[in-house]
Amino acid sequence: MIGILGGSGLYEIDGIKIIEERKVHTPFGEPSDAYIIADYSGKKAVFLPRHGKGHKYPPHLINYRANIWGFRKLGVDKILSVSAVGGINPLLKAGDFVLSDQFLDFTKVRPVTFYEGMYTIRDEEDTKDDLVREYMTEDRVVHIDVTEPFCPVMRSTLRDILEEERIRYHFRGTYAATEGPRLETSAEIKALSILGADVVGMTLVPEIVLARELGMHFASINVVTNLAAGISGERLTSDEVIQMMREKNEEIKKVILRFIDKLPERFNCSCEEVLKGAAI
Ligand code: HPA
Repeated sequence: MIGILGGSGLYEIDGIKIIEERKVHTPFGEPSDAYIIADYSGKKAVFLPRHGKGHKYPPHLINYRANIWGFRKLGVDKILSVSAVGGINPLLKAGDFVLSDQFLDFTKVRPVTFYEGMYTIRDEEDTKDDLVREYMTEDRVVHIDVTEPFCPVMRSTLRDILEEERIRYHFRGTYAATEGPRLETSAEIKALSILGADVVGMTLVPEIVLARELGMHFASINVVTNLAAGISGERLTSDEVIQMMREKNEEIKKVILRFIDKLPERFNCSCEEVLKGAAI
């Protein structure tokens, strides 16, 4: 089943039937909000607003582990994440969509793994018979491969949809994840640019890492809401970020619907193999 992580209101889409609103408790704490389980033309999807209702969690205090573990408990094995980013690459315009394919991690204070060796937190209710449960039960230390962290099947499906919908997008991009909640200095953006970053945001890491640690497929649609600090010469505001996400809401919803409908049943990628041989 597909999980959609994004802003609130994304599931208020014509054609989507809400089946159930489900509160999930996890040993890592409470997810950001209740999960919305919905049906679209016979296919189920689960929505979660990562900042919670009313945007109550700042990026560095989102309980990423609870959010991703909650998805596992509901049977989600593919996650599509939608988020706002600042544009660093001069080819980017505000309003562009970017299907990032790499990340640089500059976060600092977030729990980054489910596998904490002798400190591992276990879910006694977890019944899935897989390497996740085995490694957690055995208190193993796990180093997952993130050479190519995003699911290629999900990315190419998204590309096809963006082409068909004639939405301006970029198929590749390196996402620099900053700790926030403050925005960056212009010197930081200059440094990130030299390091190869195309966009900057505060939520992709550890979201993608935790999903991958559970053998899930993960892809991200990044919406460029503003040019990053120092690029336009203007002061940055949250107002412009919210305004741009509002403007793009209809396009995002359309892409999500088509994505739920179009996603193939079988994936010929290696995302689910990532745990094999990954534990010490
Ligand atoms: N920096 C970090 N995160 C962001 C930005 C930005 O400029 N815009 C939207 N999310």
